[in-house]
Amino acid sequence: MRNIHVIGIGAGDPDQLTLQAVRALRSTDVFFVLDKGEAKSDLVRLRRDLLDAHVPQGTYRVVEARDPERDRAAGGDAYSPAVGDWRGARAGIYARLIAEELGENGRGAFLVWGDPALYDSTIGILDEILDGGSVRFEYDVVPGISSVSALAARHRTGLNRVGRPVQITTGRRLAEGFPEGVDDVVVMLDAQQAFRTYADEDIDIYWGAYLGTPDEILVSGPIAEAAPRIERLRAQARERNGWIMDTYLLRRNP
Ligand SMILES: C[S@@+](CC[C@H](N)C(=O)[O-])C[C@H]1O[C@@H](n2cnc3c(N)ncnc32)[C@H](O)[C@@H]1O
Repeated sequence: MRNIHVIGIGAGDPDQLTLQAVRALRSTDVFFVLDKGEAKSDLVRLRRDLLDAHVPQGTYRVVEARDPERDRAAGGDAYSPAVGDWRGARAGIYARLIAEELGENGRGAFLVWGDPALYDSTIGILDEILDGGSVRFEYDVVPGISSVSALAARHRTGLNRVGRPVQITTGRRLAEGFPEGVDDVVVMLDAQQAFRTYADEDIDIYWGAYLGTPDEILVSGPIAEAAPRIERLRAQARERNGWIMDTYLLRRNP
C-alpha cells in the first residue's frame, strides 16, 4: 500500500523542524512540492534546503507541480465556490502525482508550512481523493510549529489570558466584525490589513511578518500607534520581497 506523510515543517525557521518530522523526512522516497509561482519560490527553496540539510542525498526524489490559480477576486457569496473549485483542481493534481510518481508500496510526503491542522488544505484534499477512490493510500500527519506559536514565542506572550478563550480567524472574517465573546484574537491570511478597522479601540497588537526567517519583522503596542507603522513596514517589505506572510494577535483591554 502507498504511504504518505503530511509533514508540518514549521513556519520559516529550519530549526523548528521536529525530530519526528526529521524521522518522517528520512523515511520518504518522493516529496511532492507545489509551486505557487515565482513570487513565492523562496518557500519552495526553503523546503529544498530542509531536505538538503536533513536527508542523505540520493535517497529521495522531489516532484514539483504548479499549484492551480485561485480566483482571489471572488468575494461574498462567490468566495466558497471559488475555494471549492481550487481545492477540486488541487485534488486532481495530488491524485495524479500519487498515482503516477509512487509505486504500489512507495512512500511519499507533502511538506506543509507551519502545522498541517491550521489553515491548510492538504489533509482535506487527501480525504477527498480517498473518498473519490481513484487511488488508494494510507497517510499520517506529523505536527509542525505553526506561525501562531512562532508569533507568541517571538513576542514572549501567551495567546490567552488566564482562564479566557482565544480565537484564531482570518482577516476576511475580522473585517466583518470583532468576534463575539473573545478579547484575544489571532488573525491569519489578512491581505487587507483588517486590523486598521480597530485602530480607534483600546486594543494591543502583536504583529509578526516572515516569522523565523532572516526577514522577520516584529511590531507590538497599542493599535492606534502600531497600525500606521505596520502599514508602512508591510508595504516596504512586500515591495522588497514580492510577497509577505504576516500574522497578529489582537488583545482587547477590559
Ligand atoms: C495558508 S496559512 C498556513 C498556516 C500554517 N499552516 C501555519 O500553521 O502557520 C498562511 C498564513 O499563515 C501565516 N503565516 C505562515 N507563515 C508565517 C510566517 N513565517 N510569518 C508570519 N505569518 C505566517 C500568515 O497569516 C499566512 O497568511
